[in-house]
Amino acid sequence: MCSQSTDSYNGTPMIRGPLEFSIRSFDEVSSTSDIARELAKSGAAEGTVVVAKRQTAGRGRFSSRWFSPEGGLYCTVLLRPDIPAQRSHLLGMTAGLAVADAIEPAIGLPAQLKWPNDIYLTGKKVAGVLTETEVCNERVRLALVGIGINVQRPDSGVPDQLRGRAVWLSELVGVRPADLLTAVLDAFALWYEMLRSGDLGGMVESYNRRGLLRGRDVEVRSADRVTAGRCRGIDARGALVIEQPSGSIKTIVEGKVCSWS
Ligand code: BTN
Repeated sequence: MCSQSTDSYNGTPMIRGPLEFSIRSFDEVSSTSDIARELAKSGAAEGTVVVAKRQTAGRGRFSSRWFSPEGGLYCTVLLRPDIPAQRSHLLGMTAGLAVADAIEPAIGLPAQLKWPNDIYLTGKKVAGVLTETEVCNERVRLALVGIGINVQRPDSGVPDQLRGRAVWLSELVGVRPADLLTAVLDAFALWYEMLRSGDLGGMVESYNRRGLLRGRDVEVRSADRVTAGRCRGIDARGALVIEQPSGSIKTIVEGKVCSWS
């Protein structure tokens, strides 16, 4: 049982203005997404953004931990998108595009997107997105879009598993997390409007232009199987397109890229 959306009345969608943000800042939290979830339960509005200087239990996709020392950007955007559940995967991709838009001008280097929503610079991961949703009657009523960006490489060192795989913006240029947050949210608002309006062409084009996996051989785990083949980018619905060795095409909406070369 789930409650009725506040965005429709008798099935007629209300006209909604552009996304406006209301920022809630903290020094330390377990996870910005935990705080955003609590705020959502108390009725917080769409556009509420929880940002913290550090997280003690930052989490990533597939139950991984997100290294969250001071100097990074950790935020969660609370959304009440009321979009069809089949499009929920596009929320994270939208955030990935926004992060790429925000960091490229600051760094002066192209940012790449590794499906579905990892952001890479110089071949290493610089940011990630974790989207948690609540779906009711096949529509996404609540989405918590958590964004973590490696900004200042900590002097105290980084976990072994990140060495050689992750990059911090401070290794390339000096950026303040607060300035970055503004740029990310500005870009996110634009992509989110397009997503809500169903205008996906520009998103798909921009995503494919930045696609790290395009033309590469990949292995993708989804549900109970692994699909191997040549990545052909994403299709009009945002699904990953893989050309299998037999020549048949497989599309994957949700999964984890296990390897690419
Ligand atoms: C990933 O690449 O696995 C996703 C990482 C997402 C990390 C961000 S940091 C802000 C928000 N709070 C969390 O606990 N996780 C997300």
